Amino acid sequence: MAAPNVADRIRELCEGLNHHIHRYHVLDQPEIADGQYDALYDELVRLEQENPDLVIAESPSQRVGGVPLSHFEKVTHQVPMLSLDKCTTEQELSDWMVRCQSRLPESEEISYTCEPKIDGAAVALRYEEGLLSVAATRGDSQTGENVTVNVKTIKAVPLRLTADNLPSAFEVRGEIYIPTDEFHRFNAKALEDGVKPLVNPRNGAAGSLRQLDPKITATRPLTLFCYSLGWSEGDWQPQTHMEVIESFASWGLRTNPLLKQCKDLAECMDYIDKLLSNRSGLGYDIDGVVIKVNSLHQQARLGAVTRKPRWAIAYKYPAEEATTEVLKVEFQVGRTGSITPVARLKPVFVGGATVSNATLHNMDEIQRLDLRVGDRVMIRRAGDVIPQVVSVIASKRPKGTRRITLPKSCPACHNPIVRLDDEVVARCSASHNVCPAQRKQGLKHFVSRLAMDIDGLGDKLVDQFVDMKLIENAADLFRLSHQQIVGLEGKADKSAANLVTSIEASKQTTLAKFIYSLGIREVGEATAANLANHFAEIEAVISADLESLEAVDDVGPIVATRIIEFFADAVNLEVVRKLVSQGVRWPEIQKTSVKPLQGQTWVLTGTLEQLARSEAKKLLLQLGAKVAGSVSAKTHQVVAGPGAGSKLTKASELEIPVMDEAEFIQFLSGYDVDLS
Ligand code: IVH
Repeated sequence: MAAPNVADRIRELCEGLNHHIHRYHVLDQPEIADGQYDALYDELVRLEQENPDLVIAESPSQRVGGVPLSHFEKVTHQVPMLSLDKCTTEQELSDWMVRCQSRLPESEEISYTCEPKIDGAAVALRYEEGLLSVAATRGDSQTGENVTVNVKTIKAVPLRLTADNLPSAFEVRGEIYIPTDEFHRFNAKALEDGVKPLVNPRNGAAGSLRQLDPKITATRPLTLFCYSLGWSEGDWQPQTHMEVIESFASWGLRTNPLLKQCKDLAECMDYIDKLLSNRSGLGYDIDGVVIKVNSLHQQARLGAVTRKPRWAIAYKYPAEEATTEVLKVEFQVGRTGSITPVARLKPVFVGGATVSNATLHNMDEIQRLDLRVGDRVMIRRAGDVIPQVVSVIASKRPKGTRRITLPKSCPACHNPIVRLDDEVVARCSASHNVCPAQRKQGLKHFVSRLAMDIDGLGDKLVDQFVDMKLIENAADLFRLSHQQIVGLEGKADKSAANLVTSIEASKQTTLAKFIYSLGIREVGEATAANLANHFAEIEAVISADLESLEAVDDVGPIVATRIIEFFADAVNLEVVRKLVSQGVRWPEIQKTSVKPLQGQTWVLTGTLEQLARSEAKKLLLQLGAKVAGSVSAKTHQVVAGPGAGSKLTKASELEIPVMDEAEFIQFLSGYDVDLS
């Protein structure tokens, strides 16, 4: 028999670890550093190995305990897992609302809820006396597969729930999915390790649930959102869908924070439109919005028809993926000479637009995809992102496909294409002063919105100016006359005059935009702004040496070298100076001084009573500090309010200075920040 305090310690460790798993994987608000978590976990595993009879069901060690299965057992759903009716227009959604109302007494108002329709794999989780007992896939809606061992590996799925009003047994339903950034991270690592990458997040989620070996599932970055109740036993009697989801969250289940109650069609359409415009920023794939009748009593009376409830509907967004055919592959020359293969596709409607080109990035990507001309491919167009080829549909490869090779010479200037050993990108070896394609791209960049922002000067017109030798470089743009423009690219008298005006107007710019517009390799918008703030004058940037360039925020040796190379080129320098002498101007810049807490890392812990935590964080950021979530040897200062726990202990262990809120406010009052 183990000493009684060992059992207590094991329980205490399980409780503590499960609390931290919940903070990290459900709430996304970790309280301790990974290393601290690992130390507690290691202690638990050691005690469990010494006392195997003391292992409890909710122990986090039980998440990866399973041995490979030979097959999945069938699970009959107590209540079928229904699918949803679909609509794609406001009219259809309105028709559905009218149908709902017609089945209920006229006097009864209906309130709705809207939530994202997650593109993943459905699961049903059964909890008995708080413990996760069975997890099943949807299957054919009546019968699914028992995937409990796999689902237990997902940290966002609690092994035990504790709450006063928890039903004695119930089933929660939700969607397992892979977040977008985790998907890309997983695939990048898979490629490095020579493991087969996942095709897309949805296949990845569904495929991971159906692995016979739970150790494989455990490597996949799965999480879930819980979106409905299957059934429940006991006294809990929720009245609305909102209440169900709020209860789930209070019990420790992960729910979607974007769930919203909407009173009518207009509010639902507003939600649908806003979510669509945020689609690419959500961090997970969705294929629409699910609109539900909020009242569970009304839901029950509306009932279901042939596997679809009448009380819910999916408003589907345009699919972001489609299959099509690769007609040919061409090579584009970028502004810095980079050679990018582009697939010319049989036009296909995807993500709300017709797509006939997709970028292939570089030759490595073509190799990774094993792409050939003539292949059928899956393409993806998500939001404003350039369409991508996701995969080749190998089973549909026709006869006579052609392999793709990198051309030996630049399609525009015929100089050799080179690929340096350490670069994935191949480049035209000529300078942009020689290669017309690079020149055109450079000019397009120069006039673009975030650069000099010349209205009315599109890509085609730039191509024409260069082809007709009207301009060679950016400075020539400012010498274009009305006469030279009239008649080109549909420019009539009036629009030619407008263009001359907007070219003139663009001379009034900012130094940051001007630097960005030069198209220096590796110098994007943010770096250009940092250079402008740091040097304040273009001549100071031109004459800066490596060391002074590296003193600028986010400028490392590579970027600094590119800047020096750019201004070492006599033609570039001449163009820049000509632009300035032709009247390109910007408001004078006050050099920003180094912020008082620049380079420091601060940690806020415990409850702050006078300042909201977000406010305290904002003030620290304003002063140039970084605000971290955990204490480490790199922390400069901890601010601790009442209730501070492990972070305070850690700070004293590491001898990091700690101040309370009153001292913090006193400290802040010494700086120029708004404390009101
Ligand atoms: S509610 C009876 N809510 O969509 C209604 N479903 O076509 C049950 N799905 O298999 C579904 N996100 O896997 C609901 N927020 C959400 C959802 C959602 C994704 C999936 C679900 C179901 C399919 C229905």
